[in-house]
Amino acid sequence: MLLLPITLLFSSWFTSVYAGSQTKGQNCTVGNNRLQIGTYQFHSDCDTQTYCSSQGTCELKGCRKDQYPFGYPIDAWVPPKCPSGQFCPDEGDACQPWLPVDSACQLNRDDQCEPPPNWQDLTDTSKYGRNVNGSVCLNNVCMWANVTVGLPCEVENTAYIAYAGTDEFIDIVSRGNCQVGLYCESQSLVCMQTKQLGETCDADKECLTFNCLSKGVCGPGADSPNHLGIWVYSVVGIGIFGGMFVTLITLFLIHRRQRDQEREKRLQYWREQNQFRQSIMQMKEIARTSILSLPGGNGHNSNRSTVCSRAGSEESSTPMIQYSVHKSSGLRQQYVSDDNGSAYNEMMMQESRR
Ligand SMILES: *[C@@H]1O[C@H](CO)[C@@H](O)[C@H](O)[C@H]1NC(C)=O
Ligand SMILES: *[C@@H]1O[C@H](CO)[C@@H](O)[C@H](O)[C@H]1NC(C)=O
Repeated sequence: MLLLPITLLFSSWFTSVYAGSQTKGQNCTVGNNRLQIGTYQFHSDCDTQTYCSSQGTCELKGCRKDQYPFGYPIDAWVPPKCPSGQFCPDEGDACQPWLPVDSACQLNRDDQCEPPPNWQDLTDTSKYGRNVNGSVCLNNVCMWANVTVGLPCEVENTAYIAYAGTDEFIDIVSRGNCQVGLYCESQSLVCMQTKQLGETCDADKECLTFNCLSKGVCGPGADSPNHLGIWVYSVVGIGIFGGMFVTLITLFLIHRRQRDQEREKRLQYWREQNQFRQSIMQMKEIARTSILSLPGGNGHNSNRSTVCSRAGSEESSTPMIQYSVHKSSGLRQQYVSDDNGSAYNEMMMQESRR
């Protein structure tokens, strides 16, 4: 609820800041054309797609200076850029031929001025905007950026309003007509050599990297990539490979323990089965002896006793342990429920108690 009025306030404030509200054909006053305070953006009564003509009406712009002009919908028709030798003024009414030295130009529109004959030598190939094709517009006058070391130069200081969060501060941009690699010293107004990394400075323009740090020395360019030390790569590499090896070793140890446990289980199972086998053999032996000792049972159970005696004779050397019928059923029960050592141990204890 509270956001709505604020949004409306901001949107209306922004439209009034970026451009006027008069559309094509509506009236306007040429005298209202101005640069906005703080941003120095061009402003007129007309909206972004029109300019204020000398007749006092807004007309569609006849040229653009930006590749992607502000204030046009996607896929809308945009006015053409000007060919070489011409420029599009801030108003955007029509292309004009380059301006010769000493004629009036608009703020920061170095491109409006005619380049010097040796513009290839004077042009600023860095992206810091010291000049355009060797020409520069200072204090609304066209000149060439051709002044050499120690010679008098001109300077133009523009105070922009900058914001850091809610804090407002002044950002002064200082430009001069010295050659590339030099700067126009603001006090003596002579061209001086730009400073190397680490030298003391008062303004960005004094540094080769165009970045005077707050502690007063030239720092690396604000757009220079951040280089990391060899040790960072080493630490990251060790971290990656160390992590891999620790994981592998941990898994190996875990699996080895599991394997040992499995082997122990199988061994227990084997011992148990062997024990069962011996027990069965002993039971058979007992049964055989008890049948043989029965009086007169010889002739009646001859067939079964033969089988028993044949089987029993193989294990005749095993030690005799007495087993009752109750005991054998307990064993079978334990065999069914066996899969852990405790059942086996319990059985062994029972056996030893007997
Ligand atoms: C447009 O014209 C009307 C009346 O003719 C006037 O009141 C208004 O101020 C004008 N607007 C501008 C921006 O000049
Ligand atoms: C330097 O530029 C100015 C215009 O700004 C011009 O009048 C002057 O002749 C140029 N000097 C040289 C040596 O080219």
